[in-house]
Amino acid sequence: MKISIFKSQQQLAAALAGRIVRKLREEPRLVLGLATGRTPLPLYHALVSRHRKGETDYSHATTFNLDEFVGVEPAHPGSYRSYMREHLFRHVNLNAKRTHFLDGRAEDLDAECDRFEESILRAGGIDLQILGIGCNGHIGFNEPAAELLPWSHRVKLTLASRKANAGFFDGELRKVPKEALSMGVATILHARQIVLMATGPQKAEIVAKTVTGPIATRVPASLLQLHNDVEILLDEAAAADLRRAGLVGRRRGRLHER
Ligand code: F6R
Repeated sequence: MKISIFKSQQQLAAALAGRIVRKLREEPRLVLGLATGRTPLPLYHALVSRHRKGETDYSHATTFNLDEFVGVEPAHPGSYRSYMREHLFRHVNLNAKRTHFLDGRAEDLDAECDRFEESILRAGGIDLQILGIGCNGHIGFNEPAAELLPWSHRVKLTLASRKANAGFFDGELRKVPKEALSMGVATILHARQIVLMATGPQKAEIVAKTVTGPIATRVPASLLQLHNDVEILLDEAAAADLRRAGLVGRRRGRLHER
């Protein structure tokens, strides 16, 4: 795993946005895997500002989002579709037909997951998957468990994940859906390139476990160690435990200071 540490989350976001802008120029038909949550907000902000400067053309690009709540209308402010529309899609020239989500309102949720996997295959696979990480090590909604499901599937959300999302549901836990659909760990690991972003002190411990610990389904992000093109982008706060333990710059991962 390659580990890059940035002085701030803005610098991290600017660097990753720059890389996506370059990739998009080289491959206009880029297939991006996208995450929601707090962490990628500065990235989407940076991508929007580069687009406004006329630096990007998304008209041939395709996106697949990692996850979506079950039973939530696309227009609901808590849906991940709304999040993407608000923070990226309405600001850039992506073709709506090429922005893909798992549909949490589908009648047959298993068939919906199969349909989503087939769409990824039809698009030629994901070129670059952007990930955040939960404080418990989840990626997408693949929560710590004795077993993980490989492909897109229905997930029962943990209390912690529901609490983390309450802000989008009037701050009321009872309104947060109990289930979601999520890409599986194999869906994620099949992306050609993976970039995991983590910022803030609350992510320091899980980042250290993810990068240096054993591969364990109890830390879903640790499975990323199996992929041969993964980069972990951290701000100083999220890198604190790695630094404290002297675990960067040695045998695990290449360290790139920015
Ligand atoms: C969201 C997703 C989640 C988040 C994770 C971190 O699409 O896939 O795994 O990346 O919960 O969330 P934040 O960034 O809000 O700390």
